[in-house]
Amino acid sequence: MSATATKSKTPFTPEQEKELVAWTKRYPHSNMGLVEALRAVQDWHRRITEADAARVAEIFGLPFNRVWGVATFFPSFTQWQTGRKRVGLCHGLSCWLAGSDAAEKALRETLGVPEKTCTADGEFSWEAMECLGACEQAPALLVNDRLIGRADAAAIAALKKGKK
Ligand code: FES
Repeated sequence: MSATATKSKTPFTPEQEKELVAWTKRYPHSNMGLVEALRAVQDWHRRITEADAARVAEIFGLPFNRVWGVATFFPSFTQWQTGRKRVGLCHGLSCWLAGSDAAEKALRETLGVPEKTCTADGEFSWEAMECLGACEQAPALLVNDRLIGRADAAAIAALKKGKK
């Protein structure tokens, strides 16, 4: 199937389809843009479904399993619905020593959802992550691309109120 092929049923808007096709043309080999394309899908849908991967596979001219394998390999891609604010709680050693257990309890109680579950309003989800590279600020949180260090219960309450 060609990179510009279109299907009547797609999970993407026409603009998103155009962006995905553009990723097939950006690098010398079309599949070199696959990870960037999947990153865009994750941003748009806050997860990557099988239907998303199937359409990306068509656009890139790749087998579904190749695309699905990439979509399910990297932790930054999820099959569960993330919140608009995707909170990562570091479970690395420095953060654990500095109280990541208490931060996890605060996340559960303040957001009111278990790990890898989106709040009803779609605003938040949280998940454990590996070392965020900010051990000196332990315990650390990553909110989308923004780091929050010394994440105690007060910091998490402020995050929920949009003040952090
Ligand atoms: S162990 Fe948490 S940021 Fe490194």
